[in-house]
Amino acid sequence: METRTFQKIIYRHFQENPRPLPWRSTTDPYAIMVAEVMLQQTRVERVLPRYEAFLARFPTVAALAHAPLAEVLALWQGLGYNRRGMMLQQAAAEILAQHGGSVPTAPAALELLPGIGKYTAGAIAAFAFGHPTPFIETNIRSVFIHLFFSDRTAVADSEILPLVERTMDRSNIRDWYNALMDYGAMLKKNIPNPSRRSCQQSRQTPFRGSNREIRGQVLKLLLAAPGLPAAEIVLRSAKDEARVRAVLATLEREGLLQERSGGYWAGGGPMIAAPHQEN
Ligand code: ADE
Repeated sequence: METRTFQKIIYRHFQENPRPLPWRSTTDPYAIMVAEVMLQQTRVERVLPRYEAFLARFPTVAALAHAPLAEVLALWQGLGYNRRGMMLQQAAAEILAQHGGSVPTAPAALELLPGIGKYTAGAIAAFAFGHPTPFIETNIRSVFIHLFFSDRTAVADSEILPLVERTMDRSNIRDWYNALMDYGAMLKKNIPNPSRRSCQQSRQTPFRGSNREIRGQVLKLLLAAPGLPAAEIVLRSAKDEARVRAVLATLEREGLLQERSGGYWAGGGPMIAAPHQEN
């Protein structure tokens, strides 16, 4: 398909049905970075109610960098994959320490930040700074597979990326990517599994009964009842003891919670009774 024809199809749909998403009405690179990290693995409808609350509580890079991790995790509740919230805070801390509090503009610099992969870096560069950077996310992938690979299975991102680059509207990159994503979201509503023919797109594993579920449950319990001992966490979660203990150990190793004298705290440990430091 010719680029002009493709662009016309995508833009026509966008003109008729643009989604009024809150991260589209800001040019604040920090707010855009927050949105792109939230949207990495979480659907738009789930992100919407949590996005503005998060920004209201952490309106700037510095506010997020300096917040107690437990508060970041509390505001992350419902988005899933809590490590992303922790890494977003670490990214804010790096931006503060190494970039004077301004989100870096170059995709290569963005990619060095915790939790920011190649595609998220591309999205931030495009939406926040208007850089015509080719990137792929799930909606974009659907569009290209649907319109350029209609007779193929097992399409790789390495085949899609050159097309993204060739067809993008460089003069108007924000609108272009918003339009592409809206078209992809429309496809997903109207045809079953438009990305099923992708090599990259892996379906999320079922949530119920997963470690992901237990991880979320444990953090939720500890945010509501800081300092709970392991036995109590096992009891309240009503899950298999060995699995809960294994999840506690992993969460602690990852830095999402701390154990202090038999109790567990979400985030960096008890906020008032700081651990005694030997000099
Ligand atoms: N998924 C990833 N980035 C997105 C965005 N900016 N808008 C909608 N969905 C997205």
